Amino acid sequence: MSNSDAKAAAVESAEKTFTLRDNTSGQTYELPILKGSEGPTAVDVRNLYGKSGVFLYDPGYTSTASCSSGITFIDGENGILRHRGYAIEDLAEHSDYLDVCYLLLHGELPSPEEKTEFDYHITHHSMLHEQLIYFYRGFRRDAHPMAIMVGVVGALSAFYHDSTDIADPQQRMVASHRLIAKMATIGSYAYKYSKGLPFIYPSNKLSYAENLLKMMFAVPSDDFEVNPVLAKAMDRILILHADHEQNASTSTVRLAGSSGANPFACVAAGIASLWGPAHGGANEAVLKMLGEISTKERVPDFIKRAKDPDDDYRLMGFGHRVYKNYDPRAKVMRNTCHEVLNELGIHDPRLELAMELERIALEDDYFIERKLYPNVDFYSGIILKAMGFPTNMFTAIFAIARTVGWIAHWKEMLSEGTLQIGRPRQLYTGERQRQFATVDIREHKQSRGWSWLWGNSKQD
Ligand code: SDX
Repeated sequence: MSNSDAKAAAVESAEKTFTLRDNTSGQTYELPILKGSEGPTAVDVRNLYGKSGVFLYDPGYTSTASCSSGITFIDGENGILRHRGYAIEDLAEHSDYLDVCYLLLHGELPSPEEKTEFDYHITHHSMLHEQLIYFYRGFRRDAHPMAIMVGVVGALSAFYHDSTDIADPQQRMVASHRLIAKMATIGSYAYKYSKGLPFIYPSNKLSYAENLLKMMFAVPSDDFEVNPVLAKAMDRILILHADHEQNASTSTVRLAGSSGANPFACVAAGIASLWGPAHGGANEAVLKMLGEISTKERVPDFIKRAKDPDDDYRLMGFGHRVYKNYDPRAKVMRNTCHEVLNELGIHDPRLELAMELERIALEDDYFIERKLYPNVDFYSGIILKAMGFPTNMFTAIFAIARTVGWIAHWKEMLSEGTLQIGRPRQLYTGERQRQFATVDIREHKQSRGWSWLWGNSKQD
């Protein structure tokens, strides 16, 4: 077990306990309180059901710690995000994406020698097996890049049998390097395929971000020069999306991994979960929302809709389950947005619209009372659009960046000794036991007839 993973697993019991009293049975339960290095403590309820026969009910996991982890710390009230103790603002300013990948995987920023070796491994795993390239041809040209990425990443386990034994730390590390390295290639190829353009191989001379831009935008018939300002912006966007504690897609990867599934299958599950508009799909939804709003004059109407309890419309890129303050990534993203648009000499009215939307919302009691602030997705789409990414590639970029977070959590979970399969229980609300009725005596109930399927058909 690496020292960083060992640190993560070592939770301590606090001196005090948590008393839970069941007034139905009159029983009182003294439960241990677990404390980490910072943030809320946790009541250890692992034996509660065995002792009390009751479950704890928390469908959205709003009050549940699903694991212990030393990778990322978020203080939502104060808008703090740290990876292995380093503030996201410092990492975005002073590191590159592969530094952050190394930090997330190993718990420390790399020494110069470690950086050289790690960068070499990632660079030299960036190509895909040539046979995989034919896999793309099974998709329609208009397939969403996320659909292609779920399929291709899941298929990697059919190509890389030598790194699917999760019990072997060496194979786990090779699979980690392969996934981080190949995601940029897989995502870029999905875009090229959708355009009917030839795939562009990665270049070992370029950084991770430079390669991503090259594979996305270079064509064989022309020279391609990476704009250093855009490469820096790309690298920063990757850093800002690298990891974020136990979010939906990371929890999906952990749950998939808890059954012993191979890392490629686990990451494919993470990609599928990230795709949802409430999660990683929000950056694409923000651009669509800004397009619908279209002018500053219409902003109040959309804010009115977002506040209407009878309308499930929400401001995309706003709100967060954990941040009840400004998402620190959104601040860095907004500054990067200005840098990129200035560099490209682009005047994108959507940026002004987004800033007007932010200004009005942050002055509105509805958003203030609910502590709804812009999140990481609010500005990222405007930058990606300006850089030339099509809207349907935004979540694919998020998936490319987040792969290291998924893998770091998967690795941490596997390093904790015995793997325990995640198996939540439920509050059952269905039918109680019923006598089986054979079809000849079942009462014909109109409400259960097939008319709902075929309309007023003669059968009914
Ligand atoms: C990401 O988990 C992570 O860390 C995710 C992520 C990561 O890096 O992995 O940070 C990336 O997914 C960012 C979030 C991207 N999603 C969006 O921008 C979609 C819009 N946001 C919302 O759908 C919502 O804010 C969530 C899903 C992000 C969080 O929802 P919660 O925590 O379940 O909050 P909630 O739905 O219980 O809302 C609380 C109240 C409700 O009002 P009341 O019922 O109390 O009257 O706030 C309202 C909600 O209606 N609300 C919004 C709103 N978000 C919440 N109202 C209008 N617009 C919004 N965006």
